[in-house]
Amino acid sequence: MKKSTLLFTSTLPSLSELGEELLLIHDEILPRKSTAFKKWSQKFPLKYAVKAGESLKSVDHFPQHIRKIVQLCENASSRRLTIVVVGGGSVGDFGGFVASILKRGVKLVHIPSTWLSAIDSAHGGKTALNVGSAKNQIGTFYPANKIVLCRDLLFSQPEARAFEGFGELLKISLLQGGALWQELSREFEITSAVLWKYLARAIDAKNKVVAKDPEEVTGHRHILNLGHTVGHVLESYYQLPHGISINYGLDFALRYSVQLKIMSAVEHQKISHAAVAGYMLSPLRDDLFQTKASVLNDFRKLLLSDKKKTKSQTLRFVFLKKPGQCVVREVTVDDVLVEICRQKEEELNG
Ligand SMILES: NC(=O)c1ccc[n+]([C@@H]2O[C@H](COP(=O)([O-])OP(=O)(O)OC[C@H]3O[C@@H](n4cnc5c(N)ncnc54)[C@H](O)[C@@H]3O)[C@@H](O)[C@H]2O)c1
Ligand SMILES: [Zn+2]
Repeated sequence: MKKSTLLFTSTLPSLSELGEELLLIHDEILPRKSTAFKKWSQKFPLKYAVKAGESLKSVDHFPQHIRKIVQLCENASSRRLTIVVVGGGSVGDFGGFVASILKRGVKLVHIPSTWLSAIDSAHGGKTALNVGSAKNQIGTFYPANKIVLCRDLLFSQPEARAFEGFGELLKISLLQGGALWQELSREFEITSAVLWKYLARAIDAKNKVVAKDPEEVTGHRHILNLGHTVGHVLESYYQLPHGISINYGLDFALRYSVQLKIMSAVEHQKISHAAVAGYMLSPLRDDLFQTKASVLNDFRKLLLSDKKKTKSQTLRFVFLKKPGQCVVREVTVDDVLVEICRQKEEELNG
């Protein structure tokens, strides 16, 4: 898989740095959020604005989009065309997919505008569309030629969004361990400035995992799903932002690791007493993990629809032994539901 060039900038890059013939695909919200973006985007001869979100990734809407994009690019040369995608993860997944199929593949630049996309989704080359409510069922591996991490654009987000990006930063730091986790664990406050400080190292950690298994052949890349099995259930069931759900999913995975004696209680205490853990553990968690039969039934359906499941009732769950060491084990969907109930009980009993 080709390597993407990373560029860290304070302002949006000049068009000549991006390619010869350019099509800008961007989140329609951005001109309203940043006057610098508005001015910059006006320089592009070809532009396509999209509304971010899961419906942008719906395969049902794709034909309308691609028809308009093909029309826009009718005079562009397949060799010279570069698609510049500016937005969060949904716009990145959509724009990356377009770049991978338009004229059998054109050059691609990602300029992520959310913390989640800057830390995670713009890297690793996965593009995706949804089929009905089943997320990311269609896609390609298509790494960007260039990824621009632009400070001004990322800081145009409201400060509250930093918390959403934090889930993925925490995940990758726990997976990598070492100095990255040590330093992050000492942060008392998660702000945009803190995310920016760790951005390069978080991307590097993800790229190291991806490099060992770029197209998910050996299964190594699967460890990036730490916290995601239960995280995805909460995300779908409560319509929570992805990063927030991953925080809860990580907390669940760590406690589950202790329960199965993969992680020692002492190790878990070290993590949960770290300064940063205040951000991982939230009082809301109690309300999310429900043991009512009807809710558990819906959780079961969501766990079964997770495309990472192996045989019909088993999942490859990512556990943590300690920061820097994870263990993947097959568990059944029922095992996960029983553990949800056990953790809820543990919580209630203090
Ligand atoms: N390809 C991958 O490897 C990968 C990995 C993780 C997640 N994802 C995908 O990423 C998506 C979630 O990412 P996301 O949360 O960035 O999604 P998103 O693109 O839906 O953005 C979230 C919200 O932020 C708004 N926004 C974007 N930039 C902004 C800015 N600068 N200021 C203010 N608001 C801004 C958007 O309009 C949207 O309302 C999901 O579709 C998920 O499946 C992909
Ligand atoms: Zn994620």
